[in-house]
Amino acid sequence: MRIAYSVPPAGRVFFWATILMNAIGKTVTAYAPASVGNVGVGFDALGHALDFAGDRVRLTVIEGKDILLDAVTGLTLDLPSDAGSNTALRALRAIQDEYNIRVGARVTLEKGIPLGSGMGGSAASAVAAVTAAAEAWGLSLSEDDKLRFALEGEAAASGGLHADNVAPSLFGGLVLCEGVRRPHVTRIPVPRNIACVLVHPDLEVYTRSARNMLSAGVSLADHVCQTQAIAGFVAGCFRSDLDQIRRCLKDVVIEPQRAELVPGFRKVQSAAMANGALGASLSGSGPSIFAWCESSQAEEIRGCMTHAFQADGVSCSSWISAVNAAGARLED
Ligand code: HSE
Repeated sequence: MRIAYSVPPAGRVFFWATILMNAIGKTVTAYAPASVGNVGVGFDALGHALDFAGDRVRLTVIEGKDILLDAVTGLTLDLPSDAGSNTALRALRAIQDEYNIRVGARVTLEKGIPLGSGMGGSAASAVAAVTAAAEAWGLSLSEDDKLRFALEGEAAASGGLHADNVAPSLFGGLVLCEGVRRPHVTRIPVPRNIACVLVHPDLEVYTRSARNMLSAGVSLADHVCQTQAIAGFVAGCFRSDLDQIRRCLKDVVIEPQRAELVPGFRKVQSAAMANGALGASLSGSGPSIFAWCESSQAEEIRGCMTHAFQADGVSCSSWISAVNAAGARLED
């Protein structure tokens, strides 16, 4: 039985004090997928989910208000364990504070996404934590609320608020995010038979520093070019116009500033394009590189991209994913 107390409004703010008397000991597991932020053309605005990797959060409700990290398993073991710096824990703390949750959580985090990979790992951990907590703490959070709490969690790692990893990890598919604190998210249709090739070199790039290095200004010419590109890319997706997507999947503003972070980036990008990709760029802030292509060409493009990295002495892993990959889910 769930007992929920509503506390009268204080000013404009409602505090819901929820005491889950019989939920102590309840355990819930949630999975959230990796994602490609920016999708090259839409810095902080576009993202899509990936179907081959994700993070898993196992949350047990405990007495008291502690939010504790029990263990980290998987590809990354060395994560902060405090609720200020760990993206999953920070998201949980944000929910707990806003809803005045009188119980705590013990968390096990299974990292299926490599750290500093550009595959949205910090976002996936936060999304999985919010998805698990909503169920375990018995909250009927709206999708907007889940997004907001996960964003707050992710900010612990990236140092900024951008929904282009959190939103696709939560909702799945290709999404357009507008706004910062409470972004509006729009699902963009993905043309049939489009795949994403993702190549991850054995390197780490941290989003926080890859954001800090960016110039604050942009020339008028670049602004015009990038604005046309993102509008054309979204139109191309709605119209299933692969030529338009190919013309528009480009980044003249951010990619040139970050290209040097990834040895061999230009060669890998050129290899993808020379073999028929619709576009290729950094996944998020890198070092992973993604390419969109027709599904029938994905294996060949993957081979060329990995070969280009290896020819430069950079070892890498690679995958092929649907662009319309599913978002976060509860698991038994
Ligand atoms: N939009 C973010 C950035 C994504 O490029 O900084 C980070 O994964």
